[in-house]
Amino acid sequence: MNKSNFLKKYGSWAIVTGATDGLGKQFAEQLAEIGFNLVIVARRKNLLDGLSKRLNETYKVECLAIDLDLSANDAVGLLYEKTNHLDIGLIVAAAGFGTSANLIEADIKLEKQLIDLNCRCLMEMSHVYGKKFTAQKRGGMILISSLLGFHGAFGTANYAASKAYVQALGEALYFELKKHKVDVLTVAPGPINTGFAATAGMQFSMALKPENVARESLASLGKKITLLPGFLSKFLYLSLYPLVFRNLKVMVMGMVMKTMIKKTWLNLKK
Ligand SMILES: NC(=O)c1ccc[n+]([C@@H]2O[C@H](COP(=O)([O-])OP(=O)(O)OC[C@H]3O[C@@H](n4cnc5c(N)ncnc54)[C@H](OP(=O)(O)O)[C@@H]3O)[C@@H](O)[C@H]2O)c1
Repeated sequence: MNKSNFLKKYGSWAIVTGATDGLGKQFAEQLAEIGFNLVIVARRKNLLDGLSKRLNETYKVECLAIDLDLSANDAVGLLYEKTNHLDIGLIVAAAGFGTSANLIEADIKLEKQLIDLNCRCLMEMSHVYGKKFTAQKRGGMILISSLLGFHGAFGTANYAASKAYVQALGEALYFELKKHKVDVLTVAPGPINTGFAATAGMQFSMALKPENVARESLASLGKKITLLPGFLSKFLYLSLYPLVFRNLKVMVMGMVMKTMIKKTWLNLKK
């Protein structure tokens, strides 16, 4: 689909969460380049304001920066209130984070915040904007799961489980909303070179470029249910999934994660 068709199909405003870094920032950049006015959401107000100014100057689009902790209980309600007057046609839910620790050793407050952001916020956004898009018979949603969402991964159990939730949610919403002319794409990437690894206490020796993941995701919206972006995600998925029993996958992915998780964060021998 060319840029003007894309804008016509979903335009004229898009919401991008997690826009201050990584994938969200790339989505915001590429959507502004297409011509979408943007609502950008994250917690760091200075970064949001800087991005908003730059996108406005570079692409001549309107930009509304909303600093919000999306893991808070009332966050999605507030976001909806602040955006309901706009012609929103697309949401990209890229805010999310990971952790690495055996669950019994983890900071339970942080793990609960992870569920609130990665799962509850996404479900609530899908609910309110799904209703809006259904009523207007036009809309698109991009949800970000992970390759870890296809099975358990010890050392990052809660994060992997949160992404299983996103994957299942997105796959089902694709069918629930398709008949209302609303497209849902779930993106399940392997490692990407963003701020994610540092936050999660991981390090990646190979990683996808966030700009490529964002580009492939936008190109796949309305065409696929799930996207495994880039060669790396497809390779990791295909080398494990068709051939290996589920229990073995958990073991293999746990071993892979062990090489990625920084020793200071995790002692799997305990
Ligand atoms: N990078 C990877 O290897 C990888 C692989 C598979 C899936 N993913 C998924 O991709 C998504 C994007 O991650 P990323 O790689 O782009 O990570 P990132 O570079 O760390 O960006 C995360 C974004 O989320 C925002 N955020 C974090 N907590 C928030 C909160 N409580 N409220 C509002 N915004 C919040 C951050 O902004 P503020 O700090 O300013 O709030 C930031 O803009 C996540 O769902 C992640 O799980 C990433």
